[in-house]
Amino acid sequence: MNIRSPIVSVLGHVDHGKTTLLDNIRGSTVASREAGGITQHIGATEIPIDTIKNICGPFIKKLSITDTIPGLFFIDTPGHSAFTSLRKRGGALADLAILIVDVNEGFKPQTFEALNILKLYKTPFIVAANKIDKLFGWEVHENSSFMKSFKDQAPNVQQELEMKIYELVGILHKEGFQSERFDRVSDFASQIAIVPISAQTGEGLIELITMLLGLAQKYLISSLEIHEDAPAKGTVLEVKEEVGLGTTIDAIIYDGVLKVNDEIALMVPGDVITTKIRSILKPRPLEEMRESKNKFDHIDSVTAAAGVKISAPNLDDVISGSPLQVLNDYEDVEEQIKKEIDDVTIDTEDEGVLVKADTLGSLEAIVSLLTDIDVPIRSADIGDISRRDIINGQIAAEEDPEHGVIFAFNVSIHPKAKEDLEESDIKVFSGEVIYKLTEDYTIWVEERKEAERKAYLNAIIKPGKIYSIPKLIFRQSKPAICGVEVLSGTIKPGYPLINANGHPVGKIESMEDNGESLQSVTRGQKVAMAIDAVAGKDFEEGDELYIDIPENHYKVLNREFKDKLTEDELRTLDEFLEIKRNNDPDWGKLGLFET
Ligand code: GTP
Ligand code: MG
Repeated sequence: MNIRSPIVSVLGHVDHGKTTLLDNIRGSTVASREAGGITQHIGATEIPIDTIKNICGPFIKKLSITDTIPGLFFIDTPGHSAFTSLRKRGGALADLAILIVDVNEGFKPQTFEALNILKLYKTPFIVAANKIDKLFGWEVHENSSFMKSFKDQAPNVQQELEMKIYELVGILHKEGFQSERFDRVSDFASQIAIVPISAQTGEGLIELITMLLGLAQKYLISSLEIHEDAPAKGTVLEVKEEVGLGTTIDAIIYDGVLKVNDEIALMVPGDVITTKIRSILKPRPLEEMRESKNKFDHIDSVTAAAGVKISAPNLDDVISGSPLQVLNDYEDVEEQIKKEIDDVTIDTEDEGVLVKADTLGSLEAIVSLLTDIDVPIRSADIGDISRRDIINGQIAAEEDPEHGVIFAFNVSIHPKAKEDLEESDIKVFSGEVIYKLTEDYTIWVEERKEAERKAYLNAIIKPGKIYSIPKLIFRQSKPAICGVEVLSGTIKPGYPLINANGHPVGKIESMEDNGESLQSVTRGQKVAMAIDAVAGKDFEEGDELYIDIPENHYKVLNREFKDKLTEDELRTLDEFLEIKRNNDPDWGKLGLFET
């Protein structure tokens, strides 16, 4: 009989300090190196009991658990809203949890979401009220216990913190939990302890960890017992190429014992494979699994909870996020994993964009972000962009340019697909910060719409008025050539004209000034104009002539683009409408079935 390390998941809203807390416990600086400053994967770190004893010193002497458990196994989760399924997975694995709340911001959407995950799995947890060092006037006492530091604070600072803690107590109460600041908790079975901390300065970490161990001792000891021969269960975090080892997987083993030569089942796209473990490598204690490079020890077997790197044949297509299970005599492991495949299959539609990502967690996160903004998805899978993807993307682009898009998170483009991509109409959104992909897409779609609107507006004939300057008729007919001044709008060749009585005059054939032919003239300009009309019959010198806006153009203008017209164009439009309606009272009105 063995006691395994309890798995402690750190959950909470984005930027509330989960990774920083673990950095402080490990003595590392992972948070500062993350892309976009956010966590986008599940992280895992084993903290040996000796390190914990060092941090807490005399505080944990009373706890007998420190003689039995090998350490604490921490799981870091992403707080960004898109990573719901990674949070759920992190929550589901947990024996205990730390719900971290920035005390200055209070509960936020993903704090509630995390709380609900803890409720769902009935996970015992502690609330860490983080960033107390940011309270106005707080005097920092590096790595001090909270109680000691708190005593040294000015009364108004103490009061401010008490207020913030009571706000947390209030919210937790509404959510169905009784809670108190940890030193005032009388019954740990019915009350949640709130420990004020600063992940940055280390204040309060002593109490936070002591409380965690206390919880573990009280509720977990019996469930932490594992039999030497219990077959291992785990979750794949990442599939990685390693020099000298080939394709390997990083996994969290949360139950049982994993041994070299064990036969394990894993998920590949749409199927289950089994393979035999060649070697097991374990990161040194205090190393974040995600970052650990070459700092591994070869071991023959590992007891949960632990993070390990596994080398075995045929791991190439294994999906990150896949369950991992040792085959055994009394469970149909393959059947169980097949069932999980159904759970993670993403619903797709006939039309829509393509999504490629490096892990199941990030794939689900992009899909969730796209669903939030109502973007349909045609396919979503794990792996690099292939030629097949380019073919599908091109079909999508031809159906709808906005769907001719591939979202590529942490994946590259297959060399053979690169050329095809350049020749295609596909737009790729790639990057290492997940929410930027969809933000960039939204901006691109808006720009496209705006450009389309502009092109549409350009094609529409807008109001305009010219004045035939007296004594400047140079030619009577075929075409009539006369001097005109533009009174309003933008005038282009090809536009038809009417006079103030609504009679058609003829089309503008061309315009020129000083022998230079012009494609467009605006208000105030004086030019020589050739009109397909007879001067003195179709119009007279001194006449004001209007651009004859076709009725369907008028309707579009009136409905969609009125805000794009200048004041003076609007006035001309009113005059023009009056002329038209004098001849036909219903001109330009919407038909019964038009909108
Ligand atoms: P996600 O993983 O993206 O959900 O964020 P996180 O909860 O891991 O937050 P992270 O640790 O990355 O911290 C976010 C920012 O808050 C960083 O700039 C940290 O330096 C800062 N921060 C975290 N804890 C504290 C604290 O106790 N005090 C102060 N002043 N800043 C903190
Ligand atoms: Mg983080």
